[in-house]
Amino acid sequence: MMKIAIIGGTGVYDPQILNNIRDQEIATPYGVVRFKSGEYAGKEVAFLPRHGSNHSIPPHLINYRANIWAMKKVGVQNIIATTAVGSLNLAMKPGDFVLIDQFLDFIKNRTTTFYEGGERGVAHLDVTTPYCPSVRSLLAEIASRLGIALHQQGTYVCTEGPRFETPAEIKMFAKLGGDVVGMTNVPEVILAREAEICYATVSMVTNFAAGISPQPLTHQEVVEAMAANSENIKKLILSAIESLEPETDCACKHALAEYGGFKL
Ligand code: HPA
Repeated sequence: MMKIAIIGGTGVYDPQILNNIRDQEIATPYGVVRFKSGEYAGKEVAFLPRHGSNHSIPPHLINYRANIWAMKKVGVQNIIATTAVGSLNLAMKPGDFVLIDQFLDFIKNRTTTFYEGGERGVAHLDVTTPYCPSVRSLLAEIASRLGIALHQQGTYVCTEGPRFETPAEIKMFAKLGGDVVGMTNVPEVILAREAEICYATVSMVTNFAAGISPQPLTHQEVVEAMAANSENIKKLILSAIESLEPETDCACKHALAEYGGFKL
């Protein structure tokens, strides 16, 4: 059976969209990962809320390597992730979805690779196309079919968090070409690519970023904005799961070919 994972960000914690849900626990070299598995449309789906089921893990303490390793170990071939983001681009408004296609990495204290020398060696991953183009185009097509407002491209700025940004930082990110800002997509996207898993993120704009928004930012407004759009995100992800074709080949599945492929 084809395996797909949903990595849910802020506001996406509910695995009840799946059938036959069970708890899974997978040991990895980086620690144990607990998540739910279920079925949808004849496919096996893992559901992993990135911040824990009650939002108890802050962005800088998420065990990104364990999460992606566990997904690889259970045979996941495609990951659809969600992220709540602030917007630096006036055309990307609160409530809009953005199918990000590039990132700017402003994290400070996270390991972004499975390859740290020693026995595993060193790998220099190509990230010209960090997000899977086939999963992205499927999501874009479904959003347009369902009448969901979605921007087909966007550059995600990843900050270390957990604080929000200063207006000066947001001005800088905008000058550098960023469209949205969040705290989790790096290193998740990078590790998924190293693991040769097709990975795409649906970002949901919950607020205009600091200095663009007239008020101070609160986590509460992020959660409320996500809740207001939760039906759309569910519909989008479930239709994508229905339509994902099993066993299609993709360049993402060969991202480490130069190094003999990814090995668990
Ligand atoms: N900044 C960083 N992360 C976020 C924001 C923001 O404004 N909104 C939602 N996640």
